[in-house]
Amino acid sequence: MKAIQCREYGLPATLEFSEVQVPTPADHEVLIQVKAVGINFPDVLIIQNKYQFKPTLPFSPGGEVSGTIQAVGRSVNNLKVGDSVIALCGWGGLAEFVNVKASRVFIMPPGVNSVQGASTLYTYGTSYHALKDRAQLSAGEAVLVLGAGGGVGLAAVQLGNIMGATVIAAASGNDKLNVCKKMGAHHVINYSTEDLRTRIKEITGERGVDVVYDPVGGSLAEQALRSMAWKGRYLVVGFASGIIPSFAANLPLLKGASIVGVFWGSFAEREPERNAQNFSQLAFWVREGKINQHIHNIYSLEQAPQALQDLMDRKVIGKAIVQIAD
Ligand SMILES: NC(=O)c1ccc[n+]([C@@H]2O[C@H](COP(=O)([O-])OP(=O)(O)OC[C@H]3O[C@@H](n4cnc5c(N)ncnc54)[C@H](OP(=O)(O)O)[C@@H]3O)[C@@H](O)[C@H]2O)c1
Repeated sequence: MKAIQCREYGLPATLEFSEVQVPTPADHEVLIQVKAVGINFPDVLIIQNKYQFKPTLPFSPGGEVSGTIQAVGRSVNNLKVGDSVIALCGWGGLAEFVNVKASRVFIMPPGVNSVQGASTLYTYGTSYHALKDRAQLSAGEAVLVLGAGGGVGLAAVQLGNIMGATVIAAASGNDKLNVCKKMGAHHVINYSTEDLRTRIKEITGERGVDVVYDPVGGSLAEQALRSMAWKGRYLVVGFASGIIPSFAANLPLLKGASIVGVFWGSFAEREPERNAQNFSQLAFWVREGKINQHIHNIYSLEQAPQALQDLMDRKVIGKAIVQIAD
């Protein structure tokens, strides 16, 4: 089969387009013929050996796929050959076939195509868990989304809107912010040209924002924390900037605020039933047309390194997809 291979750690240009053997599923796995792969930030970290999971070299990156089951391990009884599925494989997805643990494979909701399927679980799963379970966002509250044009950011914009919040989208460029407006942002802030705190004050008055959704970290974090309302919740989602922020403890004290960690992968492992309930709600909104993933570009398997490079270069708005089969 054809596959993108990481043979030594490095930047996307070091990845190789190769011919490798089709894997055989273990007892608890299924073999999926991959149709589409959603590209996510961990894919660029894993090939540089900067991610918490470290597969043995050589491996194929690609953590989120849609496709069709081709073979089923002996102890799998909830899935069968021919099922159309979406799956969170961690890595291995940028290949014509991938083995995935059955517990990380979900039946594709009816009416969802392979590109939509590969662009929903990871970003919307994370952002829904963050806003609903961790922030307990209520209708009428104001949520500030940093990195709002990225994968999880744009999902948070759309979900915040669906959940009845006032959504303030903040990103580095107007191209990203225009998409955020189409996806439901009520206000936008360009943090390359505008001062974040001043703009939040203009939008919310003295009140500030109830929830900050932060997948970026770095220097924006303290400004956002200082712009929170009384009893605000600051969601620590990720550090796409490469800088983990630190805060003086007086800042949450003064606001009666909480700094809340979000680790969706761990939530999905530890609380599979609540995660499945979240997925059912997301699938319902996809079917209703309330969730519309923004697809930045569709790349071929051979072009996958370019998809990863575009993500690293902050060019991707919403989701980059690698399509392997129809
Ligand atoms: N905690 C969890 O459970 C969880 C789950 C999923 C993802 N994450 C994390 O969330 C973060 C975002 O993931 P994603 O898939 O949404 O990534 P993404 O699509 O690349 O979006 C990240 C955004 O961060 C901003 N950014 C600022 N500095 C950047 C830099 N130096 N390099 C790249 N982007 C930069 C960019 O927006 P601007 O250009 O507008 O600034 C970009 O749109 C990652 O750190 C990821 O690991 C966490």
